[in-house]
Amino acid sequence: MDYELRESVPTPESFVALREAAEMGTRSVEAATQALPNTLYGVSLLEKKSGETVGMARVVGDGGCYFQICDVVVDPAHQGGGLGSWMMDAVMEFLTENAPETAYVNLIADVDGFYEQWGFKPTAPESQAMYLLM
Ligand SMILES: CC(C)(COP(=O)(O)OP(=O)(O)OC[C@H]1O[C@@H](n2cnc3c(N)ncnc32)[C@H](O)[C@@H]1OP(=O)(O)O)[C@@H](O)C(=O)NCCC(=O)NCCS
Repeated sequence: MDYELRESVPTPESFVALREAAEMGTRSVEAATQALPNTLYGVSLLEKKSGETVGMARVVGDGGCYFQICDVVVDPAHQGGGLGSWMMDAVMEFLTENAPETAYVNLIADVDGFYEQWGFKPTAPESQAMYLLM
């Protein structure tokens, strides 16, 4: 196995770099420094030969009623090899063990055909996810 999955979030710098590499919305190192310690559960993927962080995923929320999966990202150079699924399996194991039966687990999907594998469904038409960028 060329990669190691660690049950911890990456550094703020790696977090920002990963999101940038995958062309996801920009987050500042300052915001990440404030945010990452508030993670309920996080995973990082390390490429063994380089020691570089090439993926991450995390869960935030109140630990009882609401859980949000966010920052699921694999560096483009390492995509398509099952790494995203590996991290999502770990996230789902955490949720299965720690989220109460009535918990509402949500995420904003940027891709079609990935999260469905773990049972996620669109909120529409019953409801519609909304957002606001400060
Ligand atoms: C989405 C992402 C995390 C998937 O990681 P990955 O390591 O490439 O995923 P896997 O190799 O485990 O893919 C498993 C399956 O998911 C599906 N899948 C993966 N990425 C997909 C994509 N971008 N679009 C559609 N389906 C996708 C495929 O069915 C794939 O099966 P296949 O390999 O038989 O084709 C990765 O593409 C990524 O970081 N994308 C950019 C950032 C992003 O959009 N993150 C999601 C934010 S909500």
